[in-house]
Amino acid sequence: MDWKIEKCDKGLNGELVPPADKSISHRAVMFGSIADGKCRVDNFLFSEDCLCTLRAFRAMGVDIAQENNSSLIVNGVGLKGLTPPGEGLYFGNSGTSMRIISGIMAGQDFESKLSGDVSLSRRPMKRIIEPLQRMGVKIESSGGGFPPLKIMPSSGALKAIDYVNPVASAQVKSCVVSAGLYADGKTSLSEPYQSRDHTERMLEHFSAEIERNGLKTTIIGGKHLRSKDIQIPGDISSAAFFIVGALILEGSELRIKGVGINPTRDGIVRVLKRMGASIDVHNFQEGVEPVCDLKVSYSRLKGTTVNEAELPLLIDEVPVLIIAALKAEGQTIIKGIPELKVKETDRIRSMTLNLARLGTKIREKNNDLLIEGGNERFRVQELDSFGDHRIAMSMAIAALCADGTSSILNTDCVQTSYPYFLEDLGKITA
Ligand code: S3P
Repeated sequence: MDWKIEKCDKGLNGELVPPADKSISHRAVMFGSIADGKCRVDNFLFSEDCLCTLRAFRAMGVDIAQENNSSLIVNGVGLKGLTPPGEGLYFGNSGTSMRIISGIMAGQDFESKLSGDVSLSRRPMKRIIEPLQRMGVKIESSGGGFPPLKIMPSSGALKAIDYVNPVASAQVKSCVVSAGLYADGKTSLSEPYQSRDHTERMLEHFSAEIERNGLKTTIIGGKHLRSKDIQIPGDISSAAFFIVGALILEGSELRIKGVGINPTRDGIVRVLKRMGASIDVHNFQEGVEPVCDLKVSYSRLKGTTVNEAELPLLIDEVPVLIIAALKAEGQTIIKGIPELKVKETDRIRSMTLNLARLGTKIREKNNDLLIEGGNERFRVQELDSFGDHRIAMSMAIAALCADGTSSILNTDCVQTSYPYFLEDLGKITA
């Protein structure tokens, strides 16, 4: 499907409830499935990526019932209760599913085959293969570290390791911690910068023996997880498109309700505020995952520098942050960009190609991305998602600032994280 997006003269106004958090939805099904007992998962995200995770655990014998259009009941089978899926596990576009579930499969006494779509088949898996192999897991991949993966049955406990991850990645951390549940002793992972901590929070909620010491996470293997109900907050990564839209379109005043504001995910809010954004936090509530409402109003932004330590805290928001930076006054620098090249697409390339069509540009210098601000209207153009949901939605926000009606090609990918994005956009531009 292609989208036609008209320019927006009146700004984004009204109220919006963003879709449920994708990262936490995946983890609720994964850890709920291997915990002891039953849990209710409220506000699960029924998007293509999360459905891949759900189907995989159903295929491995987990009874997961849908209660209404937003809740699940997951009947956990315990760490060792999964059964062979019969056929391969297919994860579509979802890197999160494949990377974290690999850690769980590593501890099973049956073989598993994990595959995905064309984009997922190009994503590097060496980053999880290496630590898993150190834990004694036999794992085969294609072309030197790409999906499909074949994970051999484990005979007995995995070997506990102390792993130093060269990149800050929550997927790698979650994979190693998940495998650590099946290891003999304490498995640790250290990362160069803090990445999102949803796995740690959920495992603590499920009474796992998990310790956190700065950038080092340690899990004690062989301990059962005790299931407990989970409430999933709104996804700040999905909300980010409309946060930026409201900031850059004159006349905007938007309320976003029930957004997850975990400090390892809210980098976008902090960086935008530093750029001069008017974003007020209301109704903050602590919990397993903190949640709040946001009020966002049109603001004159100025450029900033995003450093390497901040990048993991807003990694998925970079495409839309680039749109904000193009509209800001002065230069914005985003440091440490190589990780952006191994997402659903090479996001630097996807953005560069689209931005050229819009009559603007970004530049790479060493590992930095340089964005010159001060752009008024963008040129109306035919833009392309290149099959990447976050590129599609970022381009929709850019198109609101163009001089007429733009088209965005290949937007089916938005089903992976925000199936009703266009309807929501329609409500707040009406
Ligand atoms: C995710 C972690 C991030 C992020 C991805 C979701 C997660 O990936 O980009 O969309 O749920 O753990 P990396 O761990 O590769 O940085």
